[in-house]
Amino acid sequence: MIKDWFYKKLKEDIGIKRYEHSLRVMETSIELAKRYNSSIEKAAVAGLLHDCGKLKGETNLLKVCSDFGIILDGMTKINSELIHSVLGAAIAEKEYGIKDEEVLKAIKYHTTGRENMSLLEKIVYIADLIEPGRSFEGVDKLRKLALEDLDRCLIYSLDNTLKFLIENKKIIHIDSIKARNYLLIQTTME
Ligand SMILES: [Fe+2]
Ligand SMILES: [Fe+2]
Repeated sequence: MIKDWFYKKLKEDIGIKRYEHSLRVMETSIELAKRYNSSIEKAAVAGLLHDCGKLKGETNLLKVCSDFGIILDGMTKINSELIHSVLGAAIAEKEYGIKDEEVLKAIKYHTTGRENMSLLEKIVYIADLIEPGRSFEGVDKLRKLALEDLDRCLIYSLDNTLKFLIENKKIIHIDSIKARNYLLIQTTME
């Protein structure tokens, strides 16, 4: 699924720092795919391209979205952190030729999460947070949890994200709340 030219284009589009982060997310996604018997090929391409919408420079992401015909929901439109995921899924499809819906969704929901995430979506979401270049309080616990229980790891990271958003008076996307509720209900029913 990954073509040689993906690497060059990605580096040019998002810049070296984000490109190197993307390579680490790809490696971590592959590790998690092996651990949870998920498709390694899909994990690799979704991990590599997850931030392909983080176009470098002064690019107006809203303008690019409208050029792609993307209609953003109200919560995404006003949060620049969220736009790149939705845009990334469109770029992955139209510019990298990715047709696999599961891969496109893993890119689209890697920032917010969503209700009833697929295994691949969970893998990319978590890999983005725990790749070796990340250092924040609690990351080691997340890395350990990721290998033990992906759902608990996801709940723990959603908890942290929501706490951070509340403490910093930031808008919480409804999909993150739905993702957390769904996982909590599911894990308590086990
Ligand atoms: Fe991202
Ligand atoms: Fe990322």
